[in-house]
Amino acid sequence: MVRNRKLKRLEHSSQKVQRNYDQQNYWNNRYEAKLKGKIVDEDDDHTDEWYFSYSDVSDVLKSYLKQFHRQSPILDIGCGLSNILNELSKDHFIGPFVGIDYSSIVINQCKKIKKNSKYHYLTLDMMQKQKPSLPFNTFGIIIDKGTTDGILCNKSHLSTISNMYKHASSLLLSNGLFIIITIKTVDDKDWFEDCLIPALMQGSENQQTKFIIHFHRCMQYTDGSENGPNIFVIVKYDCKSYSLRSSANRVKQDVSQIVTVKCY
Ligand SMILES: C[S@@+](CC[C@H](N)C(=O)[O-])C[C@H]1O[C@@H](n2cnc3c(N)ncnc32)[C@H](O)[C@@H]1O
Repeated sequence: MVRNRKLKRLEHSSQKVQRNYDQQNYWNNRYEAKLKGKIVDEDDDHTDEWYFSYSDVSDVLKSYLKQFHRQSPILDIGCGLSNILNELSKDHFIGPFVGIDYSSIVINQCKKIKKNSKYHYLTLDMMQKQKPSLPFNTFGIIIDKGTTDGILCNKSHLSTISNMYKHASSLLLSNGLFIIITIKTVDDKDWFEDCLIPALMQGSENQQTKFIIHFHRCMQYTDGSENGPNIFVIVKYDCKSYSLRSSANRVKQDVSQIVTVKCY
C-alpha cells in the first residue's frame, strides 16, 4: 500500500503564495536558486521528490511488472531532481534510463551527477507539437510524476498537454506502462475523457493498439482533508483482430472498444 505521507498539492489554490508551476521560467529559477543554495521563497517546501518515491508506489506497480519491463528503456517526463530512476536501477531495472525536462538548468545538473552511461538526460519540452527526437515504440515504462499537475495549474494548458500524452503513447512499447502520478482522477472529465484518452489514441497510429487504464485512488492527506496523489497505470497493447469468415465489413470501433478503464 502507498504510505500515508504529508504531501503538498501542486495547485495555486492551496498555496499562500501563488507559484507559477506551469511556467518554464518558474522551474529554471527554482532549480538555479537551489543549485546556488538560495531560497527562492520562504514558504516553499523545497522538495526534490514530488508526491511519492519509488518505494511508496512499488507495491502497486509490481502487479503490472513483467520481466521485460526490467530490461526495457525507461523514460521520466519532467524528471526534475527526482531520484526515481536511481531507485528503479537499485530495484534491478536495467534501463537505459532517460530523464527529460524543459528546464535546461536541471538537466545540466542531472548530467553532472549521473552515475554511469546507463543514464541519459535531455532538455525537451514534451508539450511541443513536434515529435520528440526519441525512438518510438521503445520505452517499457514512462513516468509522469507531478509533471501533469504542475502544467495543469493553469487550465489553459489542457489543449497543449495533450501533445505530451500523444508523444508518450507513441514512445511506449507494446505492453509498456505509462504511469501517471497525479492528483487528477477519472472524474476530472475535462482532463481524463476529453484530453488524456483521445491523446493516447491519437499517439498510436496502429489500428490494433488498445489501452487498459488502471486507476488507483491512493490516499488522503494526513489531515484527512483532501485526496492525495493517485496512480494511473496505462497499459498499451496490440490486439490481433480476427474477422469471422461469414461476417461482412468490420463495424467501426467506438472508444469503449479501444480503451478499458478499471478503478481500484
Ligand atoms: C512538479 S515537478 C516534478 C519533478 C519530478 N518528476 C518529481 O516527481 O520529483 C515538474 C517537473 O516537470 C518539468 N516540466 C514541466 N513541464 C514540462 C514540459 N512541458 N516538458 C518537460 N518537462 C516539463 C518541470 O521543469 C519540473 O521539473
